[in-house]
Amino acid sequence: MCPPEHFTVEYAINPWMDTTVAVDAGLALKQWEQLRTTLTGLGHVVHVLDPEPGLPDMVYSANGAFSVDGTVYGARFLYPQRAAEAVAHQAFYLAEETWKFIAPEHVNEGEGDFAYLPGAYGGIVLAGYGFRTEPSAHAEAQEVLGRPVVSLRLVDPAFYHLDTALAALDDRHVTYYPGAFSPASQRVLAQLFPDAVLADREDAEAFGLNLVSDGRNVILNTEAVAMGRKVRNAGYLPVHVDLSELKRGGGSVKCAVAELRP
Ligand code: ARG
Repeated sequence: MCPPEHFTVEYAINPWMDTTVAVDAGLALKQWEQLRTTLTGLGHVVHVLDPEPGLPDMVYSANGAFSVDGTVYGARFLYPQRAAEAVAHQAFYLAEETWKFIAPEHVNEGEGDFAYLPGAYGGIVLAGYGFRTEPSAHAEAQEVLGRPVVSLRLVDPAFYHLDTALAALDDRHVTYYPGAFSPASQRVLAQLFPDAVLADREDAEAFGLNLVSDGRNVILNTEAVAMGRKVRNAGYLPVHVDLSELKRGGGSVKCAVAELRP
């Protein structure tokens, strides 16, 4: 995670960002701390990346890379405003010998557009494209990580990253909002995950799919009340965290957490 010390909305690269409304930096930091203590309180280890001035979106650390079983596929941001974030993430992985870091050739925004399901079909990667990550990066990720990569086309600009429309609930189960995907990609998801927890547009707009799950606890935005009920009915424990300020940049829980898979 990376604290939102330099968080602002000074450019708009997704429909949620409104540069005319000032963000409450103090509140953003307080809410971020709450997310961090929620995760550590549940027994998770959180590494903190140093925030850098001039990189207001750095708090969305999920976009910086994607790791599977010790191999890290680096990010390459679409927009120049975020390009330098990839360097900070790369330095984090290079500093620890346990990681094998591979720099990317193709545009991809890390865990924003990649999800890993270790228990599904022997371990598969779900990958989004249409707004940020290039389909060519899906093929590159498959070569780097040695796991089947299933390409899914995102069609709604409000849900511009895969992690705004789909989440892993545990090693083999997912939840997603079908309307964020092309009809063909909806067909693919229905075939692969017939038992998925289906979300609706309201859940997705409350950033209810932008969640982090450890297989038991599902940490999600406070606004996503209905989504909390859905995951509870599916056998998980919803844990709500208020991230209203981070939503102004177009992100929530998942965007703020880069999961490490050593
Ligand atoms: N303002 C950031 C952007 O548009 C938000 C990134 C959200 N991150 C995510 N994993 N969906 O790039």
